[in-house]
This record gives sequence, C-alpha cells and structure tokens, in this order.
Amino acid sequence: MDGNGRWATQRGRLRLFGHHAGARRVREIVRACPDIGVKYLTIFAFSTENWKRTQTEVAGLMSLFRRYIMREAKALFEEGVRVRFIGDRIKLDEKLVRMMDDLELMTADNSKVHLTIALNYGGRDEVARATKRLAREVKAGKIDPESVDGETLARYLDTWLLPDPDLVIRTSGEARISNFLLWQSAYAEYEFIDTLWPDFTQDIFAQIVGNYAERDRRFGAVPA
Ligand code: FPP
Repeated sequence: MDGNGRWATQRGRLRLFGHHAGARRVREIVRACPDIGVKYLTIFAFSTENWKRTQTEVAGLMSLFRRYIMREAKALFEEGVRVRFIGDRIKLDEKLVRMMDDLELMTADNSKVHLTIALNYGGRDEVARATKRLAREVKAGKIDPESVDGETLARYLDTWLLPDPDLVIRTSGEARISNFLLWQSAYAEYEFIDTLWPDFTQDIFAQIVGNYAERDRRFGAVPA
C-alpha cells in the first residue's frame, strides 16, 4: 500500500494524513473482495524496515492500527471477514498485540474473505524465524534433517495456513518487492501501477484482477 506519504505531500499535508486516507481505502478494498472474487487478501501495513521512519510517523501508524481495529472489528465480523496478522509481534506494543489477538479470535469462524494484515513483517525475517523454529525441532529430535524440504519450511512460516498469492499488486510506481512474501510469491504474477494507494479504488482493483484472470500461468511447465 505504497504512496500515502507522497499523496499527503502533494496536498501540502503531513504524511499521517495520507496514512489515514490509506486506511479508508483498506476498508473499501476489503468490502469489494466478494464481488470481485477475491477470497484471500494480504495487505502490507508495516514492514520490519519501517521502524526507521521518524518516531512521530511510527507512533502515528501504531495508533492508526489500534484505531482501525477498534472501529472496524464489528463490521469485519458481521461481513464474514476472517482476519489474521503476520509478522513478528515481539516489537509491537502489548495493547496492540492484545487487540490483534482478540480480532483474530473474534473472526476465527468467518470464511467469506480471508484478510491478512502484515504488521512488522519482512519476508527475510519471516524465513529466519521459521528456520529457527525448525532448527529447534531438529535439535530436539522431532524432525529428521534429511526429510526437510520446501513444504516442511512452509509449515513454519507465518502464512502456514494460507495459499500462496496468485497476484501481487504494488501501488505508487515503484517496481520493487520490498521484502513482501518473498518465499510465497515464487510463482505470483506482479502488477506495478502508478496509482498512489489512497487513490486505489474498487474499480482499479476489479480491473487488475480481471486482467490477471486472462493471464496464462504455467508454473514452469510448457503449454499442453
Ligand atoms: C507506505 O507508503 C505505507 C505505509 C508504510 C503504511 C501503510 C498503512 C496504511 C495504508 C494504513 C492503514 C492500514 C491498516 C491495516 C488499517 P509510504 O508512506 O511509504 O508512501 P511514500 O512512498 O509516498 O512516502
């Protein structure tokens, strides 16, 4: 969800103004999923690198996440959205973590849309944490190291319950992956668009998903 800062600056406002506008788009895009046919949506809200921003911006974002959960929990539940969080919770504020846990629990029986929010998430960090857990099990004699393959490691990732992404969309004209779902996106289609996240509408979303549906995905095979 890139481009909030630039969107605000273009309007002569502080960066946080852009993040608030971005949060309103999250609401709109999640609501559009059932009609567009998107069952799993993962949004990158805060990366392991975003701590390098000013203290004011980081604190503002954390407070925005708390506010989003507080304000949206009921509607998400009623709309059948199952919410999950991925990323390392260890550095996050205790109160926010409690709210994340509660929202996961509250929506655990929903299945209309699976919304995953990546918070303090980094693909490399995730693989390192997964490897550490796996290594502990090997050390404890619970796993034979010779049996370890890609599927084994995938079971230790934060996304172990989720399918791999089919399509990754990055807004704001940057053509980078920036540590997002590195392992899981091995065969994903990418779409880089110039639109800044606060301008990303349901219509743009529907159009990109429609274009994706026409693509020919081979997963390394040759056409039949
Ligand atoms: C990147 O744009 C955006 C972020 C680091 C924050 C994303 C957060 C939101 C959209 C808030 C809502 C999220 C939830 C889950 C409620 P940027 O600030 O790097 O933009 P720039 O590249 O233009 O500076």
